[in-house]
Amino acid sequence: VPENPPYRTSYHFQPPQNWMNDPNGPMYYKGVYHLFYQHNPSAATFGDGIVWGHSVSYDLINWIHLNNAIEPSEAYDIISCWSGSATILLDGKPVIMYTGIDHNRHQVQNLAMPKNLSDPFLREWVKHTQNPVIIPSEVAEVDNFRDPSTAWHGKDGKWRIIIGAQKGDQGRAILYQSEDFVNWKLEDANPFYATDNTGVCECPDFYPVSINGTNGVDSSVESSSVRHVAKVGYLRMAHDYYFVGKYLSDEERFIADAKFTGTSLDLRYDYGKFYASKSFFDYAKNRRILWGWVNESDSEKDDIDKGWAGVQSIPRQVWLDNKSGNRLVQWPIEEVEKLRSKNISINGEKLGGGSILEVSGITASQADIEVLFEIPELENAESFDLSGVDPQLLCSNAPRSGIIGPFGLLALASKDLREHTAISFRVYKTSNKYVGLMCSDQSRSSLQNGLDKTTYGTFFDVDSNPRTISLRSLIDHSIIESFGEGGRVCMSSRVYPKLATGNEAHLYVFNNGTMSILISKLNAWCMKEAEIGHVKNMSYKT
Ligand code: FRU
Repeated sequence: VPENPPYRTSYHFQPPQNWMNDPNGPMYYKGVYHLFYQHNPSAATFGDGIVWGHSVSYDLINWIHLNNAIEPSEAYDIISCWSGSATILLDGKPVIMYTGIDHNRHQVQNLAMPKNLSDPFLREWVKHTQNPVIIPSEVAEVDNFRDPSTAWHGKDGKWRIIIGAQKGDQGRAILYQSEDFVNWKLEDANPFYATDNTGVCECPDFYPVSINGTNGVDSSVESSSVRHVAKVGYLRMAHDYYFVGKYLSDEERFIADAKFTGTSLDLRYDYGKFYASKSFFDYAKNRRILWGWVNESDSEKDDIDKGWAGVQSIPRQVWLDNKSGNRLVQWPIEEVEKLRSKNISINGEKLGGGSILEVSGITASQADIEVLFEIPELENAESFDLSGVDPQLLCSNAPRSGIIGPFGLLALASKDLREHTAISFRVYKTSNKYVGLMCSDQSRSSLQNGLDKTTYGTFFDVDSNPRTISLRSLIDHSIIESFGEGGRVCMSSRVYPKLATGNEAHLYVFNNGTMSILISKLNAWCMKEAEIGHVKNMSYKT
């Protein structure tokens, strides 16, 4: 059996070939999940002629590729069909709003509706005769006005959407209202959300989260049992930031708990690679699901050579952290566990200072690992004044050995350890609490040069009761998605080892601190390949 090319993923979504960026219009409609995505059908690089690729699934893991859903065809989208969202209207019918790059290279908003609602896959989409339905006004630059959100329906019977924009150097999310989804009016209260000196805001998202529990709610829910989340992507930083806050629908205002600071204090969905994300409410399982684009860190030439670029994250369920009340938790959807096969587990094993232990017997290039570390000697954590310290820099500059940690996983490691990606934790003591530092260190991920090997990092609070830290990592050939503290801190990376590919990849648990730690519980699973392909080649039942 020929092996998959070394870097192609086995259970993360990818199109058959060529370039992919943002997830678009994810939705659940009559038993079927839809994923659309930004796609260049003719090259492994970004360019003009971007279309909406389209795939469907019954479980968000196995996918059937369909024909492109939306392609450039009219003056208003002739250059490209850029990102947008789906909304399920009150009569139950889905509609898409997307950005067209028109013949003047202006960014305008357009509608598309399914041609035939009785086709379970909604293969064909028709563009509305009144397109473009929104064109840029003085609130936005003509070439920075894009990515309409899913609409929410207010108590006054009007639909609302926000659109990403830039004016001067201000990033903006601009609010529009409509009674019929076709005629849209610019709200006086604009901008709905704005930040100075950030440049363009892309792919804004706005949704309620339950105050209690992990259930998601429909985007239109307004009640005392929800808070709201605004998400913006800043192209300049290439990160998706989120803000939890209060939506005052009467005044059409969103009051975020925290302001954007442009520092490492800002909350991000993911502290590694994860951008242009979009959430949707899954009516089937009452949860909110988040998709994000995880781009390449190899060169454009490498992408052309491999014939593809870009993967989607494993869809993540997202909810409000009941512990803190102002942060989100993200966790890979439960369906991914269907791919787990052979399991290895370690229970209650001490990991002395400076030791390393191989987790053998699994396919380390295609695996799911959950570990619970216990820190018996938490009191001995080194005192450190973390104010003003950038965790990402600390991850790359701190000495490779500490007191409590770094400990964690070496993923996609070669036997001789010359190649490895370290996902690790350290614990520091500040005046009144313990602070954890989570790092994903790509600096030794590959012997190959010319890759972006930036190290990622963030701080999080460590509880002294129980004195544990958890980690889950999804490893899939060239992507590692890591979830620290039950999904409170997430970090995704792309790596291209030379040696540690296929059966030559290894997995280790390590402790580089001087204090011992305990592997309370470790479970590692081989992951089966997901079925992602064209309908005619699928055993996956339709
Ligand atoms: C984000 C983005 C969007 C735009 C799309 C174009 O990655 O730049 O703002 O609609 O990609 O493909």
